[in-house]
Amino acid sequence: MTVVRVNASRKYDVIIGEGIFDDIGKLAKKAVGICKALIITDTNVEPLYAQRLTDSLKKEGFNVIKYVIEAGEASKNADNFIKILNFAAENHLSRSDVFFALGGGVVGDLTGFCAASYLRGVKFIQIPTTLLACVDSSVGGKTAINLDAGKNLAGAFYQPYLVCCDPTVLKTLPDEVFKDGCAEVIKTAILGDEKLFEKLKEKKITSDIIARCIEIKRDVVCEDEHDTGRRQVLNLGHTVGHAIEKLSDFKISHGKAVAIGMAIISNTCLTESECRDAITDMLKLYELPTKCDYSSDDIYKITQTDKKRGSSDITVAIPTTIGNCILKTISMETLKNIIDKGVSNQ
Ligand code: GLY
Repeated sequence: MTVVRVNASRKYDVIIGEGIFDDIGKLAKKAVGICKALIITDTNVEPLYAQRLTDSLKKEGFNVIKYVIEAGEASKNADNFIKILNFAAENHLSRSDVFFALGGGVVGDLTGFCAASYLRGVKFIQIPTTLLACVDSSVGGKTAINLDAGKNLAGAFYQPYLVCCDPTVLKTLPDEVFKDGCAEVIKTAILGDEKLFEKLKEKKITSDIIARCIEIKRDVVCEDEHDTGRRQVLNLGHTVGHAIEKLSDFKISHGKAVAIGMAIISNTCLTESECRDAITDMLKLYELPTKCDYSSDDIYKITQTDKKRGSSDITVAIPTTIGNCILKTISMETLKNIIDKGVSNQ
């Protein structure tokens, strides 16, 4: 078992260990005390893990209730947000009670925002069940829902009280969902740790690899919790990736779009061809795409609506070597050149 301590505005542990799932009751009791627990989960995860979590919590004396949303990004909406708050109120949850997010990024983001808002803030614990949620979204306190105008447009920075990550639950993930998480693991290695990148060549995502990704994310979050600077390196590949996701009408998944985004930005911005090839080879090793059929003009058009854009410029994460990444504010024209070059080099 590995414990990664996060010293953000709230101090909490991320506990990573094979087989810790059935001990979540004990771990939660230590972190938040015995209280009423509202488990929020989705229709994919509920039949697999909700009962086990309930049993583990009840064994330690928690009074458990559950709310299940439809699986999928469309559920991260204002309607479910209000329904969950009403459900908590109808069940008389108080400020000393706790919300559990049992699921992937959608469940984690929605639950976190509900916890941040209900009674102006109640305790919440993340139990990530996708690789992407383990290494990225469950750590760092970004919570959100989508609005009609776009993804994650309403939310709060609200750190969890505990994160419990049991990699054995990833065994039930569909291959394609697992691959999405691999893209974030590769991203983390590119931006933060050359040795981790080397280790990934073994094509085995172990608990140690997950823990190392969480440490790297923790370090970035502790430096810039509110995402005004350094934290934006975590968006490596995301400016182009988000554009590709949108162009495909979300048929290309987030992880795969980010993989293409990373390949495009690396192909253009990395001066050493060895590093460029290493990144492309790594993405291919994990069966992730490195190219797409969209034209650079189409991709660029969508990046113009990117949230990270200023009036005439945009801040993008650029890898300098494997294991290092800088933030650069560039003109939209320079971004256009990067995309043109990256797409034509595909
Ligand atoms: N997923 C990017 C971040 O947490 O900032």
